[in-house]
Amino acid sequence: MENNKLDWENLGFGYHKTAKRFVANFKDGAWEDGGLTEEDTIVLSECAGVLQYAQTIFEGLKAYRTEDGRIVTFRPDLNAERMIDSARRLEMPEFPKERFIEAVTEVVKANAEFVPPYGSGATFYLRPYMFGSSPVIGVKPADEYQFRVFGTPVGPYFKGGVKPITICVSDFDRAAPHGTGHIKAGLNYAMSLHAIVSAHNNGYDENMYLDAATRTKIEETGGANFLFVTKDNKLVVPTSPSILPSITRRSLVYVAKEYLGLEVEEREVYFEEIKDFAECGICGTAAVISPVGKIVNHGEEICFPAGMEEMGPTTKKLYDTLTGIQMGRIEAPEGWIHVIE
Ligand code: PLP
Ligand code: COI
Repeated sequence: MENNKLDWENLGFGYHKTAKRFVANFKDGAWEDGGLTEEDTIVLSECAGVLQYAQTIFEGLKAYRTEDGRIVTFRPDLNAERMIDSARRLEMPEFPKERFIEAVTEVVKANAEFVPPYGSGATFYLRPYMFGSSPVIGVKPADEYQFRVFGTPVGPYFKGGVKPITICVSDFDRAAPHGTGHIKAGLNYAMSLHAIVSAHNNGYDENMYLDAATRTKIEETGGANFLFVTKDNKLVVPTSPSILPSITRRSLVYVAKEYLGLEVEEREVYFEEIKDFAECGICGTAAVISPVGKIVNHGEEICFPAGMEEMGPTTKKLYDTLTGIQMGRIEAPEGWIHVIE
């Protein structure tokens, strides 16, 4: 795929093969140096740990072209740390933080022509991942692993861009108490596929998962955390030990307090409460902030006052400030922006 065949303004959230990717193997208890390759396919044992017991974890972050023409990534240190947490939980080797950031940097540099132009609405999505590559037949961790990073230019995660979406409350659970919901393991996404296909078949954009134990508290969607704005303009973000600790959500909490002077509540949020909120959105690297216009719970509709045409005013301020920081229009807090070139 040549980058000159890509129509940046109309890109969806899909995969386009780019020029180079990073690969490193873990063998005999140590990571080899690894490096860039043009080879985009992988040859594996038929009995590899990833194929038999889903031993795979991943990350997602973006590279942005800024207003002044640089290429930057947003808080890659937090992705590196989260991947270490994921690795520990699935008995995989840790890929060191500094080397994670170097690998991401090398992949972006090698594919700079695929980083969409400033103002096009598209960005360069990076996918670091790791999987068990050696054979396992008894249920146990693999002995050998591969860490890879590739990148692909992407447009908005939801087709309408920043138009409000409709969400349904899922009858399926995403994560068990004391399970793996807080890490970025492939298995969490495999088990959400039936739920998301069902939601799409019923005309909804996404699922809202509730806590599996009581089904009374808000967890998250299949790929983003929730945020709410109260009628008196406080930001409320649901917390739970079984949701992924979104880097976007953690950044927005800081932005809300320090840039917008908002009060913020990080706490358990009951489904019962949401009819009283003024605004709702979902946030994540892929979703950025996508406004939610309506939540449907078995026929009962909860419509947010901001409606189905526009983002609510506070959601919009959060969106503009966050994307302003990411694209260099607004000064970032110390350490948030990693300049690639
Ligand atoms: N929740 C889930 C289940 C996700 O897959 C993601 C995406 O990474 C998020 C939340 C958002 O996290 P982040 O903001 O770190 O991308
Ligand atoms: C991300 O936002 O990076 C994710 O991994 C979410 C995924 C659903 C694309």
